[in-house]
Amino acid sequence: MQAILTVIGTRPEAIKMAPLLLAMRAAPGIRSLLCVTGQHRHMLDGALAEFGLVADYDLDIMRPGQDLTWITTAVLAGLRPILAETRPDWLLVHGDTTTAMAAAMAGFYAGLPIAHIEAGLRSHDLGRPFPEEMNRVVVDRMASLLFAPTEGARRNLLRENVPQGRIVVTGNTAVDAVLAMRGRILADPALAARLAAALPELAPGRRVILVTLHRRENFGAPFAAICQALLQLAARGDVEVVYPLHLNPAVREPALCLLGGVPHIHLLPPLGYAAFTHLLMRAAVVLTDSGGIQEEAPSLGKPVLVLREVTERPEAVKAGTAQLVGTDTAQILAATNRLLDHPAPQRERANPYGDGQAAARILARLRQANQRTTSLAPARASAGVMLPAG
Ligand code: UD1
Ligand code: UDP
Repeated sequence: MQAILTVIGTRPEAIKMAPLLLAMRAAPGIRSLLCVTGQHRHMLDGALAEFGLVADYDLDIMRPGQDLTWITTAVLAGLRPILAETRPDWLLVHGDTTTAMAAAMAGFYAGLPIAHIEAGLRSHDLGRPFPEEMNRVVVDRMASLLFAPTEGARRNLLRENVPQGRIVVTGNTAVDAVLAMRGRILADPALAARLAAALPELAPGRRVILVTLHRRENFGAPFAAICQALLQLAARGDVEVVYPLHLNPAVREPALCLLGGVPHIHLLPPLGYAAFTHLLMRAAVVLTDSGGIQEEAPSLGKPVLVLREVTERPEAVKAGTAQLVGTDTAQILAATNRLLDHPAPQRERANPYGDGQAAARILARLRQANQRTTSLAPARASAGVMLPAG
């Protein structure tokens, strides 16, 4: 039996790890354990429930207004006894959250081999996204096995001198998740009707502009500038702006204050994954600073305007399905109006981020991997032996 412990903490980690967790659960010879840090609470629990995932361990760390130091220290301290008890053959972390970074560090300190899913993404700017760019650099440095979603991510890792034998290009599991959810919705007209009926306030015939925002570097003035653009877009008279709000008060409160009660702007609670995918299928244009949504949208043929100055996901920009528009009001307005006034036919296309088989590739490679010997930490240190200074 190969024991694999996965640690996740936020909504996107739950959605993107679900395909792999479900595959591992069904795989003979694998004992898959799930630890959630609870960096997110409601948003994480909803996503786990939708995929039928139940945590074996829950650190329950979320505090209102938590800061990065709290998340890091609480995850490190909370994981120590769990890693000592379980001693997994592999510790799996995903992406660039502070949960992923602190969990990888806890695993490194414990001398465990770490596998990083969604390795190698780089904006090459430590301030944007903050702190995610540093988190992913640090996790990649500690990982023995790096699952890069794209060739570009693999090249980033090679440039940092990661040995090529440690890197596997798999596609992004976000594509597995969105294709599976789209399949479920298309195969189940009753589900599709329920999801449509849940948003009766959207006038039929008007096109949907779907918006999400949550990045720390967009708080404050950039956020207000984006909201100005949304107000002007809603005033066009032929669109519905649909904006499911992230639960972070730093986003929620200004959004309610600047956009609340405005006709044709719909501020919603965070949506479940089925509801959100359904809305994405219905959208004419997506305005977002999310990472995961940039990866999902091409599978549904949706144009994305990325509300950021830089992206670590350049593939869709190169393919022409996403555009970096930043946070300037005039630029967002011009780009959105252009897409609305001259719509290209929407068609599902080859997604540059993956083909829906990423979880299968990751599982196959984990099965081959010779565990234990591949931890990057020296055995003496992880056993708690004091190393001589210098
Ligand atoms: C985190 C990740 C970010 C990821 C995002 C996905 C870090 C540093 N940031 O950012 O990379 O893109 O999740 O959404 O790891 N809150 C709730 N309930 C919830 C979730 C959040 O009330 O279920 C509120 C809490 O007040 C919390 C705040 O949101 O303090 C911020 O949550 P946090 O996880 O610290 O940061 P995110 O902006 O969500
Ligand atoms: N998502 C969701 N409900 C929402 C908004 C987003 O299920 O109301 C999903 C979305 O489809 C994607 C993920 O959450 O899979 C993205 O999460 P988020 O934008 O919070 O984080 P990021 O991807 O930027 O880390």
